[in-house]
Amino acid sequence: MQLTEGSEPTRTGVTSTTRRYVPAAGLRALTRLYDPALALLYREQTWKHRLVEQVAPLVGQRILDLGCGTGTLMLMLQQACPKAGIVGLDPDPQVLALAREKSETAGITMTFVQGFADAPPESEILQSGSFDAIVSSLVFHHLSPAQKTAAFVEAHRLLRHGGAMHVADWGSPQNRLMRLLFYPVQVLDGFGNTADNIQGRLPLLMRNAGFRDTAETFRFSTVSGTLAFVRGQKPTQ
Ligand SMILES: C[S@@+](CC[C@H](N)C(=O)[O-])C[C@H]1O[C@@H](n2cnc3c(N)ncnc32)[C@H](O)[C@@H]1O
Repeated sequence: MQLTEGSEPTRTGVTSTTRRYVPAAGLRALTRLYDPALALLYREQTWKHRLVEQVAPLVGQRILDLGCGTGTLMLMLQQACPKAGIVGLDPDPQVLALAREKSETAGITMTFVQGFADAPPESEILQSGSFDAIVSSLVFHHLSPAQKTAAFVEAHRLLRHGGAMHVADWGSPQNRLMRLLFYPVQVLDGFGNTADNIQGRLPLLMRNAGFRDTAETFRFSTVSGTLAFVRGQKPTQ
């Protein structure tokens, strides 16, 4: 695991501290290889299409992608519903630059914000209760247990009542092979960061943040272990 420094404007907007995060491919030098590796080795399009179907974006909805990385899921959501407003948040300027490049090439305008899911910056774009749905793919296993808790609490705050959160991330392994294949991810992204994932605790952490009807909705075997979708709803008032 390599920790990279990122700038974090705090919610008070008074100070600007730097803090560290795990970059997209675990090591900064590998960031350029992230997209090709995900497409080739992890059948990215297959499960991300499934995730887009689950989110089912509607005209006029605002959808936030936490840890948007190079913006692939954002583009897919936007293509599924051109009249939805898709916002991406990520602390890494390098992946955000790649995401902007991709959206310009596709001729699609989307909004990107630099910041952390567990401490989103004070911004007009990120108002409490202003999102209809929040998505996040392959991000929670980059966060420490405390950051996971904070990220779910912040997602709950940013969602409107009745809105849903959809997380795709590593889950408890379906069998021994899946467990074995997950070790390299743990080495790259950290044993502490991945412990809640492998114990299948994301639905519980989501519930603790105030989400209801939390459930695993889909499992997918990959060369790095079991990918699980977790969904939860912010109660209507
Ligand atoms: C494995 S990549 C996933 C990117 C993208 N969501 C995808 O599905 O391809 C993990 C991303 O999480 C971001 N990240 C790391 N720490 C974060 C944090 N505290 N808050 C939000 N994003 C974070 C990294 O910069 C990276 O872009």
